[in-house]
Amino acid sequence: MTKKWWKESIGYQIYPKSFMDSNGDGIGDLVGITSKLDYLRDLGIDLVWISPIFKSPQVDHGYDVSDYEDIDEMYGSKEQLKTLINEAKKRNIKIILDLVVNHTSDKHHWFQKALKNPESEYGKYYIFRRGTKDTPPNNWRGIFNGSAWEKVGGKDSDLYYLHLFTKEQPDLNWENPKLRREIYDMVNRWLDFGIDGFRVDAISHIKKDFTYKNIDVGRADGLYDKFDYYNNCAGIEDFLQEMKRETFSKYDCFTVGEVSFSTIKTLAEYAGVNGHFSSLFDFCHNQMNTNTSDMTQEEFIENLKTKIFEVQNNIDSETTLTHITENHDLCRNYERFIPKEDHNFYSKTLTGTFNFFMRGIPFIYQGQEIGMSNYVKKDISEFADPVTERKYSEMLAVGKSEKEAFDFTNFTSREHTRTPIQWNSSKNAGFTTGEPWFAVNPNYTEINVEDQLKDANSVINYYKNMIKVRRKYSEVFSYGHFKSLFEDVKGLLAYKRGDEIYVYNNFTPNEMTVKGDINKVILSNYSNTSHTKHEITLKPYQTLVFK
Ligand code: BGC
Ligand code: MG
Repeated sequence: MTKKWWKESIGYQIYPKSFMDSNGDGIGDLVGITSKLDYLRDLGIDLVWISPIFKSPQVDHGYDVSDYEDIDEMYGSKEQLKTLINEAKKRNIKIILDLVVNHTSDKHHWFQKALKNPESEYGKYYIFRRGTKDTPPNNWRGIFNGSAWEKVGGKDSDLYYLHLFTKEQPDLNWENPKLRREIYDMVNRWLDFGIDGFRVDAISHIKKDFTYKNIDVGRADGLYDKFDYYNNCAGIEDFLQEMKRETFSKYDCFTVGEVSFSTIKTLAEYAGVNGHFSSLFDFCHNQMNTNTSDMTQEEFIENLKTKIFEVQNNIDSETTLTHITENHDLCRNYERFIPKEDHNFYSKTLTGTFNFFMRGIPFIYQGQEIGMSNYVKKDISEFADPVTERKYSEMLAVGKSEKEAFDFTNFTSREHTRTPIQWNSSKNAGFTTGEPWFAVNPNYTEINVEDQLKDANSVINYYKNMIKVRRKYSEVFSYGHFKSLFEDVKGLLAYKRGDEIYVYNNFTPNEMTVKGDINKVILSNYSNTSHTKHEITLKPYQTLVFK
């Protein structure tokens, strides 16, 4: 198995808007991130992914880039990024940025020029197609709902452009070699600037299958919502291998792709030995949410287990996955996996641990290390994301009541992980001296970094230990084989790494006794573990790593 620095890394995702504000404008920024590098180093992090900081009108909070070459003023400047990178280097922390190249913002000068003349050179950077005056070119539903086409040129026009996300995010035309060259040059400029790689956004959508016209879906809005015509379509590998050849492969960098609906085969194609990227997020279990599932809690966990084991047992040893349980598009992990009445220290640490020792690179999302919670809102107007608004409206449109639509939003909204980090118990949780762009969760007086660091039994100190363990046995966790255990024991998610390390996770509120010979406990969220020579009694929501 090939050794690489990034296979041994422990990652951390920063959502810059909500991480740390240094200038009192209520928005997190680069100087704020730099001021927290010691914090990240002390936590044990050595790889940081920063969500998009490029110039953007912020319709999709930076995932709509209007200038790839510069930093948005609200985050700072290129010089400040340079300082951040240099300071990070002193602490052995690598910095990767977010590469959003499936689409740009509609305010990008390429698109502005394209709009003026869709027949021009820049028109070919995007995807313009003719439909009729009344109907778009086909009935694709966008990923953020509604038709994926937006009409241009007035009401009698038959010309439309494609946008898989919001209409302010027109899709780029990867079939155009000139556009691809622009992207590769831009990528190389950033790598030359000194960053250590990229998280690559929505990359499985860059190839579209335009053989598709209309499909009769037999549904009121007439829109077709499977991704098969614009996700991982045949031929995408040519674009991705070309990008790798022209950019990443020339640097000792780390790249991790975001791919919708991967299978064992796609995981290997994207992140295997000749993969398009160094690694790929494994989202096999991340769309699951116990609050909105029809399954019982027991079935839910069994389902989770099946999905994880299928991937972990079957990927080849060269395929390097990246594991997350939280990011800026998901709810907090224990809110998704554990019923409300059982939210506590044990369940919070369990949901941070179960995937941390699997094969692959673990990433922690900001605030996860203190067990930050969802911030349940009282009114739909308290949410800030157009996607939330859109999903809510769609639910009303299909006949759900306001309460149903609102409850669903509160259970699933991707905005729950976007509230500012709770640094301490002072005003605005120490995130800003100004007015925060997005409301701070009022529970910051109980859940915050400063108090937890002082408390030996806190979630953050558990995370620090967990990271130390992963580092101490780095060889086994980064390169050792994986074997699932006790597949039939309900509520237990257990596996073996290498020849002698075992990870047991009891996802139930009850004690359970299972086979196991403990030689040495390496990590647990309980201070005592009851065991006899050949049996271990796991406490409710206990997680246990032992030799
Ligand atoms: C990002 C989202 C974003 C979308 C469009 C993603 O998958 O993680 O936050 O809205 O791509 O760029
Ligand atoms: Mg600021």
